[in-house]
Amino acid sequence: MKMVAIKVAGKPVQARVGETVIHALWAAGMAEEVKIGCVGGVCGACTITVRFPDERPGGTELACLCLVEEGMEIFPCPVGSIPPIAPRPDPSAEKLRTAYPTLDRCTKCGSCTTACPMSIPVMDSVLRMQSDQLGVVAEDFTTCIHCGLCRFVCEDRVQPHNMGMWVRRSLGASLNPVMEVSVAQETEQVEREWKYLLDGNPTERINRARQFRNSGRIEE
Ligand code: SF4
Ligand code: SF4
Ligand code: FES
Repeated sequence: MKMVAIKVAGKPVQARVGETVIHALWAAGMAEEVKIGCVGGVCGACTITVRFPDERPGGTELACLCLVEEGMEIFPCPVGSIPPIAPRPDPSAEKLRTAYPTLDRCTKCGSCTTACPMSIPVMDSVLRMQSDQLGVVAEDFTTCIHCGLCRFVCEDRVQPHNMGMWVRRSLGASLNPVMEVSVAQETEQVEREWKYLLDGNPTERINRARQFRNSGRIEE
């Protein structure tokens, strides 16, 4: 089997050609190096930055989708979550500015668009937020997996995906005002669950999964 030499956080790893960074880490007994969730490109947990030995530009990737290459250097890049701001019905650019005063900090550098593993036109969408085209913004962020990479690379701390999520939730809340409260509660719940999945005690997680399998419910 053909092998390639890569480095993960400065440590040498022998990886099989055709496997992903995550599978190479598992095979090398280094599973803890990069956080994971779905291992299918939809949860956004396994964020890394990549550097190549030749002229090719490196950048941000999802480790579960990124295939190993000879000489590749990988740096784990976990992006911490920040609490979302509650959505508002009938959103507008002005309401968005109040929720996220960072909106007008964008310097149009384009780094967020380059960093996005889902090919979302993040910078263009930030400009659409500024000019009140929120319906289009909601469409732009339909495939966002909330990996946070656009926020991570933004030197001006604009927080594009948090704003995109706010727009989508606010438009949803406008369809049904009761949703305004439930979306805020749901947001809190989701944040708690992500914290549990990413930072919780692994033994406790396994015990709770076994318990759920046996009884069909989770006892607090
Ligand atoms: S990275 Fe930040 S400053 Fe650059 S285009 Fe994106 S939002 Fe604007
Ligand atoms: S918009 Fe930002 S958070 Fe969403 S997938 Fe792209 S980089 Fe990740
Ligand atoms: S582990 Fe979910 S996107 Fe990579």
